[in-house]
Amino acid sequence: MQQAPDTPRPVAIFDTSLRDGEQAPGFSMRPEQKLALAHALVRLNVDVMEVGFAAASPGDAEAVRLIAEEIGTDPDGPAICSLARATEGDVEAAERALAPAAKNRLHLFFGTSDLHLAAKHRMEKPEALATIERAIRMARGRFSEIEFSAEDALRTDPAFLREAMQCAAEAGADVLNVPDTVGYTSPEEIGAVFADLVANVARPDHVIFSTHNHDDLGMAVANSLAAVRAGAGQVECTINGIGERAGNCALEEVVMALKTRPDHYRADTRVNTRELFAASRLLGETTGNMPPRNKAIVGRNAFAHEAGIHQHGVLADRRTYEIMSPEDIGLPSNALVLGKHSGKHALRARLEALGHDLGGNRFEEIYSGFKSLADTKREVTDNDLCDLVAEDGRGHAWELVRVEMRTGTKANAKPTAKVTLDHRDRGRLTAIGHGTGPFEALTEAFCVAAEVEGTLDSVDAHQLSREMEIEVGLTVDGQTITGRSQHTDVVIAAAEALLAAFNNHERMVASPRLADAA
Ligand code: KIV
Ligand code: ZN
Repeated sequence: MQQAPDTPRPVAIFDTSLRDGEQAPGFSMRPEQKLALAHALVRLNVDVMEVGFAAASPGDAEAVRLIAEEIGTDPDGPAICSLARATEGDVEAAERALAPAAKNRLHLFFGTSDLHLAAKHRMEKPEALATIERAIRMARGRFSEIEFSAEDALRTDPAFLREAMQCAAEAGADVLNVPDTVGYTSPEEIGAVFADLVANVARPDHVIFSTHNHDDLGMAVANSLAAVRAGAGQVECTINGIGERAGNCALEEVVMALKTRPDHYRADTRVNTRELFAASRLLGETTGNMPPRNKAIVGRNAFAHEAGIHQHGVLADRRTYEIMSPEDIGLPSNALVLGKHSGKHALRARLEALGHDLGGNRFEEIYSGFKSLADTKREVTDNDLCDLVAEDGRGHAWELVRVEMRTGTKANAKPTAKVTLDHRDRGRLTAIGHGTGPFEALTEAFCVAAEVEGTLDSVDAHQLSREMEIEVGLTVDGQTITGRSQHTDVVIAAAEALLAAFNNHERMVASPRLADAA
C-alpha cells in the first residue's frame, strides 16, 4: 500500500544496551541488573531488545534466559534477541536461552569485508556466502525472526555486500543489518550504501534493512539518521550511546531527532519518550557511568539555562531557546541554573517557586546580594537564596552544625554518620545513622533528627574543578524532595545537599503550593 506523503514512516528501535553496550569495558552488568534495565526498555516501548550473546559465557546465557522468562512471555512486548556467530553451537545456545520468549530473534553475524574474510575467517567470498546461507537455513523455523548482520559492512566491497545481503534474504533472514562496526563511514556515504541496497536487493515485502553505527568519529547518530533517510527500517542503538570503544548510536538522540524533525526525516518510532530520562539515569546508576553534563537529551545541562538573556527568553516563551520540551523526555521542567550570568527574571521566578514573593525594594536588595554571591560561587543554590532572603526574616528551618562520618574496609564496618543540627523551633539535635554506604548513613541520621520516614532515592555526584557537586533525591513522608550543594569535602557536600533537601521539605510542609509544584 502506498504511504500518504505526510505520514511518518515507522522505524523500529532495536536496543542493544545489554549486549553491545554491556560489552564495553566498565559497563558489564550482572543478570539481575540486566533484568532491571530490560524492564526500563519495556517502559520505553522499544521494538527489540538484544540482551546478550548466549554462547559467549554462562552468565550471558543466564541473563538472556532470565529476561526471556520474565519479560519475553508478553506477545505484545518487545522481541527478545541474542547475538550468535554463524555456527551450530551458537545457534543452539541462543535457541536454549531464548526458548521462553513469545517473540524471539536470532541475530547472526558474519564479517564480510576483505579484512574480516582474510584475517578472521580465512575464507574466500564463495565460501563466506555458503556459510551465511547454511547458518540462516539451519536457524529457520527455530526463532520468530532472524536478523543477519554483515559485520564491517561499511568497509565491505559494495558489490559483495549486495551479494551477501541477497544471499541472506534468499536464505530466509527477516532483517538485513548493515553495521558500521568501526565507526568509519560518513552520512553521505552510508546514505548512498542504503539507497543502493534498498534498490537492488530483491526481498519479500516484510524484510527490512537495519542500521548499526559506532561512534569512533563521533558520527554514529548522524550516520543512523542518514541511513533512515535512505530507507533503513530499523535503527540499532543504546541508552546513553554506550557500546564498544566510543560507543553506539545513542537511542535518546536518534529518537528525539526523528520526533523533533518529522518535516525532515518523515519517520518516527514507537518509543515512549517520557521514559528516556529515567532509563538513562537507571543505566548510569547501574553501571556507575553517568552521562556527561552536556550530553544531548539526557545530560543535566540539556534543559538548563544560565545566561540571563536565555533565561529571560525561556521565561517569556520557552521555544526561544528550546527545541524540545523537558517534559517530552520525562523531566518535570527545565532548570534555570542561577549563576553569575542570570538576570532578574530568573531570580524572581526561582524565589517565587520557593515561596518568596518579594516587593520592589526588598527584591532589589536580594538581587544585589545574589550578584555578589554569584561572583564568588559557581552556582547559587536554593539554600543560598533562602539565606539571602532570611537575612532579616525567619531564616530556614535547619542549620548544619557538625557532621562526622566513619567508614572502613572491614566486612563488619558499617558506615556510620553523626550529625548535629540546629532547628529553628526545636533547638540543637544530634542523631546517628547507619547504612550500606555513607550517603545512606547520612540520610538516616537526618531522618532520625527530623523524626520523619525517609529513603534515599538517588545521588548524583560530579567533580567540578575543585569542588564536588552533590545532588540528592529523597522520599520523605511520601513527598519527593531534592537538594544540591557544592564543597571541596565530599562528606560536607553530601550533608549540605541533604540539609537543602530537608529545608525544602519544611518549606513544602509550610506551603503546600510548593509541594504541588515539586
Ligand atoms: O558492530 C557490529 O558490527 C556489531 C555486530 C555484531 C552487529 O555489533
Ligand atoms: Zn556493534
